[in-house]
Amino acid sequence: MIGVFDSGIGGLTLLHEIIRQLPNEQYCYYADTENVPYSTKSEEQIKEFVERAVNYFLQRNVKAIVLACNTATNVCVEDLRSRLNIPIIAIQPAVKVAVDNDTVEFNSQRKNILVCATPITLRSARFQRLVDSLNADGIVERMALPELVKLAEKEEFGKEAELYIEQTLAQIDIKSFGSIVLGCTHFTYFEPIFYQLAPQLSIFDGNEGTARHLKNILGKLNLLAQKGEKPFSVEYIESGKPTKNLARFERYIARIEQLT
Ligand code: SIN
Repeated sequence: MIGVFDSGIGGLTLLHEIIRQLPNEQYCYYADTENVPYSTKSEEQIKEFVERAVNYFLQRNVKAIVLACNTATNVCVEDLRSRLNIPIIAIQPAVKVAVDNDTVEFNSQRKNILVCATPITLRSARFQRLVDSLNADGIVERMALPELVKLAEKEEFGKEAELYIEQTLAQIDIKSFGSIVLGCTHFTYFEPIFYQLAPQLSIFDGNEGTARHLKNILGKLNLLAQKGEKPFSVEYIESGKPTKNLARFERYIARIEQLT
């Protein structure tokens, strides 16, 4: 079994891509719905919440843990990797994909990249290291959109979200940008709104790359389920207990399927 963790329903967008690439695995999706959104919590609180989820996964004997929450990743991943002896795969904003896209689409001319995420992600040392490793400090513009997490959790994908994104994009000169990186798994639900408001920009999230990384790591460790063993299954857990509201998860999955 593979444990996939998120503060809420954002990580379902990554889970969906993981299942596409690894359709023979058993999954346990842990949404910390009692505590979402994490971006309003202290780092100490986030560490405590993630610890509970990790302990739950360890009791379930998972073979790998996927952190599908950028905010939790930035606070916890290094500590978890230093203590646990199972693979910890972590989502990260797809800045490298955007930088590579500049090379292909704009003939190596460096276009600005707008990274939208939570404030904790944007000010984290981990994010800064990523930007520095790509020599991209001069072209990366950070934009915090924490309200999108709340809107996604409330299944508000309409006018209110559109207005919020529109007003935030109006603060920058969008013409100088080549791409938008969605650095929070909750934001993937709003991709159609970003496209509608900035149709000339490429939009990237970290889901495809993270799923591919998980597949590579499990393959190297000989931990992949064999083809034809069993079809995939998903157990949905909310803050440590099996969900009582499966229909809600199913509505999000239906929405993700419309996006792809
Ligand atoms: C949040 O819970 O506030 C955001 C989660 C994320 O960064 O993916």
